[in-house]
Amino acid sequence: MPKKIKRIAVLTSGGDSPGMNAAIRSVVRTCAYHDLECIGVYRGYEGLIEGDFKPMDARSVKGIINKGGTILKSARSKEFRTVEGRQKAYKKLVEAGIDGLVVIGGDGSFTGAMILNDEFDFPVMGIPGTIDNDIVGTTHTLGFDTALNTVVDAIDKIRDTASSHNRLFFIEVMGRDVGHIALNAGIAGGAEEILIPEEDLGLDRLVESLRRSRKSGKTSSIVIVAEGDKIGKNIFELKDFVDDNMEGYDVRVSVLGHMQRGGSPSCFDRVLASRMGVKAVESLLEGKSNYMVGLQNTKMELTPFDNAIKGKTKINLELLRVSDIMST
Ligand code: F6P
Repeated sequence: MPKKIKRIAVLTSGGDSPGMNAAIRSVVRTCAYHDLECIGVYRGYEGLIEGDFKPMDARSVKGIINKGGTILKSARSKEFRTVEGRQKAYKKLVEAGIDGLVVIGGDGSFTGAMILNDEFDFPVMGIPGTIDNDIVGTTHTLGFDTALNTVVDAIDKIRDTASSHNRLFFIEVMGRDVGHIALNAGIAGGAEEILIPEEDLGLDRLVESLRRSRKSGKTSSIVIVAEGDKIGKNIFELKDFVDDNMEGYDVRVSVLGHMQRGGSPSCFDRVLASRMGVKAVESLLEGKSNYMVGLQNTKMELTPFDNAIKGKTKINLELLRVSDIMST
């Protein structure tokens, strides 16, 4: 018989993403709804090790659903990767009378939660928060939709100036090992070419595609490059390559960087965060542990941490084809 859950802690860990605050709010309010105490843990696993805790009631999360970042702060903890670090964290959890933990973060954060569960049989539940959308078990991670809107807005603005000056722009977007942001925002922003790690087009194809665009009458072009792309050249080397090998191009580079991680979450991310928080807390109450909540076919579903962490998300091949056709 699992121990009755009376007090739940929540933390945010790893790279932040828009919607994390909305998820914190949802966890806190679901706890209040079920008469549970909720404890906020500051600075992710670092704060867990140090016992940096603060009780949170329903009113303490007012006015944050629309805020980017995370009010609980985030960190990547080296100490938590050691057994000693995790022992300290477990001790703090026990001392504070905490019976369950909700971790909002990406695959690294879930690995930490899974090990905590394995070593101390401590109930844990995950909410996927990362703009990269690189977690198996959910069609959307928290912040992905907002980041897409931010990137599309940036592409639209860059297109204005690209068009005025007849320029070719290489725009780098985030996505450590995956091309979900690049592919989706590239289609929405009308990019001529999209370079993603899952599909290495090669330099020849890029050159051919730029020549084709020029021939068809286009005077400016946008090429979206995922930061994890495997073409073998970084975005500045791509510019140098075009400067050195293709005549008549005025090339500029724009690296969008961390602005993609900030900003007010979209409606989609706020609703998703609210649903995920409810599902995470209620799953812990049902005695479940070691799962991530996710969106699958419009429903909230649970995926074992192990599958979520080890699996690799697939790129949507239909989107690749659509992008090809649109750049005709
Ligand atoms: O995982 C989210 C992400 O934003 C990646 O897209 C990016 O590669 C990385 O985090 C950047 O991490 P940091 O903020 O630590 O530089």
